Amino acid sequence: MQKMIIAIDGLAATGKSTQAKRLATYLKYRYIDSGAMYRAVTWFALQNNCCASPKQCDVNALIAHLPALQITFKTIEKGSSTLFLNGENREKEIRGMEVSQWVSTVAAIPEVRTFLVDQQRSMVQMQGIVMDGRDIGTVVFPNADLKFFFTAQPKVRAQRRYDELRAAGQNPEYKVVLQNVTERDRLDSTRAIAPLVKAPDAIEIDVSDLDLEATFQRLLTHLPKNH
Ligand code: DC
Repeated sequence: MQKMIIAIDGLAATGKSTQAKRLATYLKYRYIDSGAMYRAVTWFALQNNCCASPKQCDVNALIAHLPALQITFKTIEKGSSTLFLNGENREKEIRGMEVSQWVSTVAAIPEVRTFLVDQQRSMVQMQGIVMDGRDIGTVVFPNADLKFFFTAQPKVRAQRRYDELRAAGQNPEYKVVLQNVTERDRLDSTRAIAPLVKAPDAIEIDVSDLDLEATFQRLLTHLPKNH
């Protein structure tokens, strides 16, 4: 059977990446975390003082740097995907709270989106792909073979992200995480370009009451019979 393009979009911290990774491993497809790419550009902007205050980003300075940014993914452990920016492993840096607080601002810049969407599209080539993000089923691959849209209650999502950050050795305040998750959704859904919105043909899954296994089993029920 021809290999598919599978898009998993949805609200922040609904477990899209975990499920996308698992589905890609199951199907022996490539997994791409498009959010990591927006996070990498944001981390770069912060490092290079393109972002000066919590509401301001020097858009022109950032745009001037974009052509020099090389984003790649490597599989270091089986089933994982590690982001490299200009040859350096930046997986840890891009997951911090500072990047989370800035990423929606940077992701709303049209030139940043064009730059990353071009790269995302070029990653398909011949092999099957599972890509997660916010606009994969609407903008990056509107003709994707299978589209999912994940939602969940804000408290469930904040707890998930809080637990992930703690497991990664960080010590965030729960209320800051909750505020970040809901504020990102607000910014991502209301931006002018490629807002976070369910594609009309996406399958919506509310994961509030589903654990990881139940969510994965739900995804499998939607795969074509002869996958
Ligand atoms: O998936 P994530 O939470 O790591 O994504 C971080 C941010 O990147 C998210 O708040 C919005 C932005 N993003 C986007 O605008 N478009 C995508 N396809 C993926 C992420």
